[in-house]
Amino acid sequence: PTTRYYDWIISRQNIAPDGLMRPMLLVNGMFPGPLVEANTGDRIVVKVTNHLTVGTALHWHGMFQNGTNWMDGTTGITQCPIPAGGSFTYNFTVPTQWGTYWWHAHAGSQYVDGIVGPLIIHSPNEPHLEEYDEDVIVMMSDFYHTTTAPLLSYYLSEESDGTEPTPDNGLINGRNSFNCSNDALANFPTNTTNCVSNSPQSVFNFDAGKRYRLRLINTGAFAEFQFSIDQHNLTVIEADGTDLQPAQVQRIPIHIGQRYSAIVTANQAVDNYWVRAVMNTYCVGDNAALNLTTTAMVHYNGAATVDPQAPVSDSQDWGQPQYIGRCLDLSADMLKPWVAQDAPPADVTYVLNMSFQKLTKKHVSLGYVNSTSWVPLKNAATLNQAKRGVTNFAASQFVISMNQTQTIELIINNYDEGSHPFHLHGHQFWVVGGGQGSYLPGKSPLNTTNPVRRDTATLQTFGYTILRFVNDNPGMWAFHCHIDWHMQAGLLVQFLSHPEIVKTFKIPEDVKALCGAA
Ligand code: C2O
Repeated sequence: PTTRYYDWIISRQNIAPDGLMRPMLLVNGMFPGPLVEANTGDRIVVKVTNHLTVGTALHWHGMFQNGTNWMDGTTGITQCPIPAGGSFTYNFTVPTQWGTYWWHAHAGSQYVDGIVGPLIIHSPNEPHLEEYDEDVIVMMSDFYHTTTAPLLSYYLSEESDGTEPTPDNGLINGRNSFNCSNDALANFPTNTTNCVSNSPQSVFNFDAGKRYRLRLINTGAFAEFQFSIDQHNLTVIEADGTDLQPAQVQRIPIHIGQRYSAIVTANQAVDNYWVRAVMNTYCVGDNAALNLTTTAMVHYNGAATVDPQAPVSDSQDWGQPQYIGRCLDLSADMLKPWVAQDAPPADVTYVLNMSFQKLTKKHVSLGYVNSTSWVPLKNAATLNQAKRGVTNFAASQFVISMNQTQTIELIINNYDEGSHPFHLHGHQFWVVGGGQGSYLPGKSPLNTTNPVRRDTATLQTFGYTILRFVNDNPGMWAFHCHIDWHMQAGLLVQFLSHPEIVKTFKIPEDVKALCGAA
């Protein structure tokens, strides 16, 4: 094993990912940010220098952080922010996992403003290594033309009536084009004199006959994408770090925080083809304005450098319509883990009911899990409190404390018209059930025979999802909707795993110091 060192400076800069210049928060001036790449067993060391005027923190989405909970990078939970002008070094090992991950700021909505990048872990144990020739990262996200500050204050006001800000565009690997004359239609029209139409989209250069492993990552704020490449099938081999039995599909629904690896073979005529990422209107309830197709291009080397001939509007009927209308993840029969592992029987079951309600004086719509709407602690972290033996957390913190190593079952009911990609830090869970309506015991049989193990699963519109995970990673772990607006509106709970062990944690001094002298 080796140590992978990274030296990062986070700063605010004006860039134009789709032609429209706007302020963004960037790592080393890059968007998307730098690739972190390591082998299983390696140590990853990232020195972060914060040149912003506000605090920040970086989360390594999907990393188990077993024994290093304080490196999870979640403000208000595992650390206080790295202060403006300050620096902090993340340092953790990756002993037992590989696959496709990502990193992003976990402080306010900062990742939506640009602090985001890929994290790839390789292993000689990967079963599909001989089945492709090259690795290709494909990050897709929705995109706003304004910074998150005004969007968030609009969303968390009476004025929005709970309707999320609608994205202005979508990006593939941080690029797209935009027709600047459309900007007046946006929620917050920007200054279009800073806009250049027809900015270049991403291009993937293929050699005829080669096989490419696309590592798809949805790094967005709001939208689920339906990903496809015209005329090419996709063979799915990995979901959220779990190797799969290969399954061939035409398109992949991917919600925020999720990752898939799909092998595509350059077996079509030497030409140009659209890569399409279509935002799925059905996932977002009444936010019907959302209906954007983001494109990039597959260019076969040797073809003329021109746009594909197929109209961009052609993609809507291209295969698997059943996933679109209800906003579902790929079905269980397409996501069979390569190394079979049945879900263990549940020892403890928690029922989490999530909804949006206007319970506050100002009639602002907030997200609730059971009766709690999360608000991040200021200048404090629940991990540090748990370390000091605190058991009665602030009313805004819904902390579920779990003492023994046992299998936890979560039944999550969605009393909302939107879908919600729920992400668990520090673990993978088995997805053992799901359906429409709220769950009643015996309602539908659970699938415990080698169900997919992942870290982010979509809770369908007015539906339920049943997850299981083993409580074997002591620490304070967030479980939240990865739609950024919904996390900011409070859709987050915390699992305190093994509080007695957490009390014995030796949290490094530099981590504790971020929360001040206390
Ligand atoms: Cu992608 Cu709480 O994280």
